[in-house]
Amino acid sequence: MLELADKRIVLGLTGGIACYKVAEFLRRAQDQGAVIDVVMTEAATHFIGATTMQALSGRPVYLDAWDERVPNSMAHINLTRGADAIVIAPASTDFIAKLANGLANDLLSTLCVAKGNCPLLVAPAMNREMWLHPATQRNVAQIKADGALILGPAEGDQACGETGSGRMLEPHELLAELIAFFQPKPLRGKRVLITAGPTSEKIDPIRVITNRSSGKMGYAIAQAAREAGAEVVLVSGPTALPAPYQVMRVDVDSAAQMHAAVMNEAGNADVFISVAAVADWRVVNASGSKLKKQADGKAPQLEFEANPDILADIARMPSGPWCVGFAAETENLLEYAEAKRKRKGVPLLVGNLAQQAMNADETELILFDDAGHTALPVLGKLAAARKLIAAIADKLPVSPKP
Ligand code: C5P
Repeated sequence: MLELADKRIVLGLTGGIACYKVAEFLRRAQDQGAVIDVVMTEAATHFIGATTMQALSGRPVYLDAWDERVPNSMAHINLTRGADAIVIAPASTDFIAKLANGLANDLLSTLCVAKGNCPLLVAPAMNREMWLHPATQRNVAQIKADGALILGPAEGDQACGETGSGRMLEPHELLAELIAFFQPKPLRGKRVLITAGPTSEKIDPIRVITNRSSGKMGYAIAQAAREAGAEVVLVSGPTALPAPYQVMRVDVDSAAQMHAAVMNEAGNADVFISVAAVADWRVVNASGSKLKKQADGKAPQLEFEANPDILADIARMPSGPWCVGFAAETENLLEYAEAKRKRKGVPLLVGNLAQQAMNADETELILFDDAGHTALPVLGKLAAARKLIAAIADKLPVSPKP
């Protein structure tokens, strides 16, 4: 699925060394189906060639308002009509000041004034002192008040050799912001706690008992919840996946650690989505040193005890979050999932067939609640996660916490 299919973007570059990163952003956004018209200020052309941006975008690059290729000399109007967003990256101190004051003395600043309802996303990039300057801060506050969405800036090493706030977001972060921008925001202001992945129970310092959960579903749900405007904490067992953009990940190994981490966060959460495949048992007699093979060939005798049921514990909290459970079953899904929902005491339980869902990229989710069950279509995990988040936002009581 292309995340930016049919989206028309005007990408404005202003003067800054971060221009070199924008070539990569352009490529990644195109890979997702976006059609991109590039507009560059004169200063931007000192940092990256218009030819580069033209070759990458496959479309004419616009440099000034007097471009003879535009027959009606109305590039400042034509470019934004029908566009889905204008992204200014990098946005220099000077350009932000222009935006704040409605100056229109080059093509890019003029089209930002002439844009009408076209959304404006601005990714500042400048030295930390320039970013902290009261005039810059005033101007940023002004363009925000005028409706611009500010992307970043990030903190870190700067091209000038200083360290601080003012770095432009990385290309993959700009892309995540742009994709998220086009998603509805039904969870704005909500805090969502999610568990994902397997847990891993120690036998000795080298060996563990775990399961085959990849974490893909939980991570997709974390991304979808973040895109929907929520603040997201993801308590994750061991997986190979990178944390979704702007999701706070807490790494754990065992079910006991996951239980502790979830308990720690649950009081702050409005919604808890328990996607992790938590190990049901842990080894009581785990060894502190590596178990050696016995000369007589006998296997070690492991003793087990049950792990705490994290979801059931959270569902029991008197004013805890609104809880969503998961059930992966190999058979009798409808019967087992509804029974599990009742047993765990959760308003919503999401069922899927383990053999279809485990490690796969696509899944069919079935939602069980008091009204019965509804199947979502078979979708990629991110698309399915977005549908699930929309359903959760719909079902969420207006005021889940007293
Ligand atoms: O108990 P069972 O594993 O069948 O239920 C699955 C649901 O319960 C999932 O939402 C899973 O994340 C959660 N669970 C849990 N703690 C456990 C076992 C399962 O939170 N110890």
